[in-house]
Amino acid sequence: MRYAPAMARCDSEIKYPQEGLGWRPPDLTKIRFESDRLIIRAYELTDVDAVYNAVNTCRPELRPWMPWAAADHLEPASTAQYITTQIMNTRKPDTWVNVGLGIFHKDTGEFMGGTGVHDVRRDTASCETGYWIVTPHTGKGYATEACKRTIDWALAPQDKQGLGLRRVRIFCSQHNIASVKVIEKLGIRKEVEMKDDYWIEGIGCTTRLGWGVMADEWHAKQPI
Ligand SMILES: CC(C)(COP(=O)(O)OP(=O)(O)OC[C@H]1O[C@@H](n2cnc3c(N)ncnc32)[C@H](O)[C@@H]1OP(=O)(O)O)[C@@H](O)C(=O)NCCC(=O)NCCS
Repeated sequence: MRYAPAMARCDSEIKYPQEGLGWRPPDLTKIRFESDRLIIRAYELTDVDAVYNAVNTCRPELRPWMPWAAADHLEPASTAQYITTQIMNTRKPDTWVNVGLGIFHKDTGEFMGGTGVHDVRRDTASCETGYWIVTPHTGKGYATEACKRTIDWALAPQDKQGLGLRRVRIFCSQHNIASVKVIEKLGIRKEVEMKDDYWIEGIGCTTRLGWGVMADEWHAKQPI
C-alpha cells in the first residue's frame, strides 16, 4: 500500500543525510499489536486474496484519497507483490523506510483495512502514518482505534515493544472530512496548512493539512 506523497525533504537533506538522532529500528520480523477490537499486524502471503478483494470492493471510495488505489491491486499478482514488498521491508533494518500493516477484526479475523508507518526518518526518529477502512465498516470508529494504536506502537519505547520513535506525522486533504475527523478525535496538534498542495481526482487542487505529535506529548495523555 502506498500513501499520498509525504512532505518533500529539501535537496540538501537528501544529498547530505545526517546521522541526527541515529534512531535504529527494533526487530520488525513479527509486527503485531492489538486494540480493543482490532489486531494490527504485518501482512502474510496468505492475506493476498482478502486484501485484493477488499481493495477492489472499496476502490471507488479509496481512489480519491489514496493515489495507489488508481493503479495498484488490479490483479492478485499486484497484491502479492505489494505484500511481498512489505514483508521484505521488515528484513532490511538499515534501509527500511516504510511498512504497510493489515488491520484485522479480533473476533472474526476479517480484513478491515490498512495502516502502517511511512517515510521513517532515522535522523529525527520520526515517521508518517495513514489508514483506510473497508467501506462496509466505516463509521464505526475503526480508523480512530487503529490509528491511535499505531501511534502508540510507533512512539512506545523499544523495550516496551514499540518502535521507539520520537514523532509521528499525518497528512490529508482538507476535503477528506472523515479523515480530518479521525485525526481531530486523536487530539493531536495541527501543524501545517499547505494551500492547493494536493491534487485530488474529481476535485482538483486541495489544501493539504498536516498534524504532528511528539512521544512525550502522546504519553502524557495516554501513559504507556
Ligand atoms: C477516512 C476513513 C479511514 C475513516 O474511517 P472510519 O473507520 O469511518 O473512521 P471513524 O469511524 O474512526 O471516524 C470517522 C468520523 O468521521 C465522521 N464522518 C464521516 N464522514 C463524514 C462527513 N461526510 N461529514 C462529517 N463527518 C463525517 C464520522 O461520523 C466519524 O466521526 P464520529 O465518530 O464523531 O461520528 C475511511 O472513510 C476511509 O478509509 N476512507 C478512504 C481512504 C481514506 O480517505 N484514508 C485516509 C487518507 S488521509
